[in-house]
Amino acid sequence: MMRGFAPRRPSASLIYSPSDPVNHCNQRFGGRAMGKVITIMNMKGGVGKTTVAAHLAGITSRYALGNKPRRVLVIDYDPQFNLSQAFLLPKPYFELEKARKTILSVLVDDDVKLNPYQLQVPGNHNPPKVKDLVTRIYNYSDAHLDLLPSTLDLMYVALGQANASTAPIEERFGKFIDECRALYDVIYIDCHPAGSLFTKTSLRNSDHVVIPVVPQRYAVRGIGLMMNFIQSKKAGSGTISPHILFNATSRAIVSPQEIEIRSHKDFGPVCMESRLRKYKAFSEPEGGKGFTWTSTRAYSTEALGNLLAVGQELIKRTGA
Ligand SMILES: Nc1ncnc2c1ncn2[C@@H]1O[C@H](COP(=O)(O)OP(=O)(O)OP(=O)(O)O)[C@@H](O)[C@H]1O
Ligand SMILES: [Mg+2]
Repeated sequence: MMRGFAPRRPSASLIYSPSDPVNHCNQRFGGRAMGKVITIMNMKGGVGKTTVAAHLAGITSRYALGNKPRRVLVIDYDPQFNLSQAFLLPKPYFELEKARKTILSVLVDDDVKLNPYQLQVPGNHNPPKVKDLVTRIYNYSDAHLDLLPSTLDLMYVALGQANASTAPIEERFGKFIDECRALYDVIYIDCHPAGSLFTKTSLRNSDHVVIPVVPQRYAVRGIGLMMNFIQSKKAGSGTISPHILFNATSRAIVSPQEIEIRSHKDFGPVCMESRLRKYKAFSEPEGGKGFTWTSTRAYSTEALGNLLAVGQELIKRTGA
């Protein structure tokens, strides 16, 4: 175990119970700084966005990085709902989906009929309250991790948007994130790999973007695309700081692609120093199990040390 990282014990292993709705909205936040919003995004698929989001959320809530306990929310903003599956078993997941406790309810009203040909823009410009949608995953005396799951039905919003004015949807998302900032120290958002209403609203409401990059052929093109997208979406909404995180890197060598990106005049300065290496202990956690911090797989202690170093650097870079 690395010095200075004391693991925190959950007061119960998996706190979630569908009959026990989370109610922590009134928790102390007076005097505390507003939470930082960190989007995990790359237009390229399969580069580890969900893996990075899940592990960063876990490590930030389970370990008091830099001696600060944190209230953490992780939002699954991808219709594939892989992040939700990482933390929840199928039964509780489907109960939450049925109760519409997903990101979809932030964007559209409960009673809206989902139609792939026509997006029904909500008449109500106010999203539900955060406490009515999120699910507690871990609970510590002074820190916690909450999850806002996603649903495949989010695809209806993605498919139907062509002719509709999406302003009310964007407004609802923005208001929801504003409430999150008051309730949490860090909010991570896991995005799908596309330019869409989802990635646009996520960027518009974020302070930081972590771009996981697997150093391989064409990776540099993906970064260029991401940087342009970030640039085009930030107008009028303050600044967003990008952080390139090399992911699934070799434990033996530094690849030529990583060297190329690190020495690029625009991309080099925004590369994180630490990289997330390729370890089995990072792959495919399911239903809250198999995460690095509980994993018994080979090299899991080494993987946990690696993850802590990445988490520590990100906290420093973002001031979260
Ligand atoms: N550092 C790592 N070490 C080992 N396996 C990893 C690592 N990062 C990601 N993986 C594995 O790579 C695969 C793709 O990862 P993941 O699903 O997180 O990518 P993604 O960018 O979220 O994909 P998508 O674009 O479909 O949303 C998964 O099987 C995951 O377990
Ligand atoms: Mg993903």
